[in-house]
Amino acid sequence: MLLGALLVSLAAGCSTLDEMVDAGEPELAQASLALSPEAQQQRARALAHRPGTAALRAAYRRPASLPAEAAASLEIVSLGDKLFRSRELSRQRSISCLSCHEPRAAWSDLRARPVADNGVAMTRRSQTLYDMAWQSSFLWDGRQDSLESMVNGPIASPDIMGLPLDDMVARLQGLPDFVADFQKAYPEFGITPETVSHALSAFMRTLRSPATRFDRWVGGDDKALSPAELRGFQLFNGKANCFACHSGWRFTDEGFRDIGLPATSDRGRGKIKPQIESLAFAFKTPTLRGVADRPPYMHDGSVRSLEAVIEHYDRGGLRRPSLSPDMFPLGLSAQEKADLVAFMRTLSPGPGDARTASTAPTEEAQQP
Ligand code: HEC
Ligand code: HEC
Repeated sequence: MLLGALLVSLAAGCSTLDEMVDAGEPELAQASLALSPEAQQQRARALAHRPGTAALRAAYRRPASLPAEAAASLEIVSLGDKLFRSRELSRQRSISCLSCHEPRAAWSDLRARPVADNGVAMTRRSQTLYDMAWQSSFLWDGRQDSLESMVNGPIASPDIMGLPLDDMVARLQGLPDFVADFQKAYPEFGITPETVSHALSAFMRTLRSPATRFDRWVGGDDKALSPAELRGFQLFNGKANCFACHSGWRFTDEGFRDIGLPATSDRGRGKIKPQIESLAFAFKTPTLRGVADRPPYMHDGSVRSLEAVIEHYDRGGLRRPSLSPDMFPLGLSAQEKADLVAFMRTLSPGPGDARTASTAPTEEAQQP
């Protein structure tokens, strides 16, 4: 295994042990090796296996409750909810967190480029906030490793809400209802940048993706998915190779990959780890929970529909040294493409499903 890691890291352009250590195990594992078209075909055939239904159900079962670390008092979660929707957190009071993270769009929004408080469009697309409690790195390039450390970022950033944190504290101190809420939630600390980020984080950790028909199928209800949706799920885990990156109940391994979208000036993870070739143009694998509810797709919002997403994967992406070895032409038929799209739609709540993702804090948030 060590030898394998070494070979991969050499291929990834790391010349010293230090660089490899810096690169970290997960990133080494996904470093790109240029595969010949023949080797890719072979790989595709090898992947076209049919995992048993029981094994698939086990691999995609969602946890019953929030992780213990996500527990917070109702006062704190309610305060986080109120801060999240307050325009007081933006310099010109033009936007709140909610402006770019809306419940109806799975806590993302429906724009390729959201517009900041200063009227300028951002360079990347907003992300869904589903299942933050389970996530270990944040933003499209994973440059933040905790919610608490990142959430004041959007407030203070001149490119987003543009309100320096000192000004934010002063502003909130002038609003009697916030003063009272902070007093209840944090009697010892009151209003500080840390209590603001703590409350916002606690609120976001309650935003779980809703259980859907797919989860009922995982739970043993054979009739919950149509034959087309089931075929789509089999393709997802076989011939179409989606599971190589979108694995587990959140449909992400949280790895960083170049999937061969047309290059822009945004090098993603590659900007943070320039010494690793495979990370040029690499972005974090997004969850697919609620994916039908939040077009357009990709870090730059460049792909308009789920159908267009499948066309991209079917073509295999732009060949370049950083392209992930898990990307290759798939040779999907029109029926197979439609089945994959049908399957992805089952990850959004239907008419009969509850939309969790409470805008009001849930009892669940209270549980240890
Ligand atoms: C003007 C639009 C806009 C506003 C306002 C905004 N965000 Fe975001 N949010 C984004 C964009 C765009 C990204 C992705 C940025 C990137 O990857 O560089 C993002 C990413 C995030 C993420 C990372 C999610 C993940 O999966 O890693 C969190 C958490 C988040 N925002 C929380 C907030 C909070 C809390 C607020 C309010 C304090 C807020 N956002 C305000 C646009 C916005
Ligand atoms: C090599 C890893 C990999 C494979 C294989 C892969 N994906 Fe992705 N997927 C990603 C990454 C990384 C992104 C984000 C890319 C970006 O924004 O630059 C993504 C984005 C997406 C998106 C857009 C989601 C959003 O929030 O914008 C969808 C939908 C998607 N993939 C579905 C699929 C399907 C269906 C398959 C199989 C046909 C598949 N993926 C195969 C890694 C992969």
